[in-house]
Amino acid sequence: MKKIQISPSILSADFSQLGNEIKRLEEAGADMIHVDVMDGHFVPNLTIGPPVIKALKKHASILFDVHLMISPVHKYIAAYADAGADIITIHPEATDNLKDSIKHIKDLKKKVGVSLNPNTKISTIEKELKYIDLILVMSVYPGFGGQKFIPDVIEKIKSLKKIKEEKNYNYDIEVDGGINFENSRDVINAGANILVSGTTIFKENNGNIKKNIETLKEV
Ligand code: DX5
Ligand code: ZN
Repeated sequence: MKKIQISPSILSADFSQLGNEIKRLEEAGADMIHVDVMDGHFVPNLTIGPPVIKALKKHASILFDVHLMISPVHKYIAAYADAGADIITIHPEATDNLKDSIKHIKDLKKKVGVSLNPNTKISTIEKELKYIDLILVMSVYPGFGGQKFIPDVIEKIKSLKKIKEEKNYNYDIEVDGGINFENSRDVINAGANILVSGTTIFKENNGNIKKNIETLKEV
C-alpha cells in the first residue's frame, strides 16, 4: 500500500502571501503543493500562470503538483514545465489529442496526470491509463474551493484501483475537491493515495495546517 500523501491546494491560501504560505505548508509536512491554474474559459475562474509559479518555486523544495484547468492546454504545457511544474495534470476535454499531450509532458521529463471531472467516465481515457503517472479524480466540478464532496466518485476511485491492480499499472490516485475529516478515510480506503485539500487544511482547527495535514493522513 503506497504511503498516503497530502497535496494542499493553494487556491485557499492567502494570495497576497503565497510565498510565505508555500513555505508554511512545506514546514507543516505537506508532501507536495497543489497549484490550481484556471483560465476563466475551461472553468469560470481565473487564478495564476507561469510567471507566478516561477516566482513561487524558490520558496519550497517539495514538488509542484500543477493542475491545469485551462483549454486549449497543449500549446501551454511547455511554459508550465519551464516555470517549475513537477507534475502536470490536464483534462482530456482540453486537448485535441490526449495521447500527444501526454507524450509532450513526458518528453519534457515531467510526471503526467490526467484529471476526470465527476461526469467524465473512466472509459474516456482507459487507453491512456498505461502511460500516465497520476489520475486526478475530481470530487467537485472544478473552478472553486470550498465546494461539497460528491460521494458518487467513491465508486470511480474503486474502479480505478481495480484496473490498476488487474493491469499492473502504476499511476497514483489523487482525489481533489471537498476533502475533509469526515470523508478522507472513505477516499483512502477506496484506493486514493494522494489527497488534495484547500479549505480543510487552511480553515479547520483555527488554521493549524500541521494538525490538519496529519489528521487527513490518518486512516
Ligand atoms: C477546484 C480545485 C481544487 C480545490 C480544492 O477546482 O481543483 O483543488 O481548490 O479545494 P477544497 O479542498 O476547498 O475543495
Ligand atoms: Zn485542483
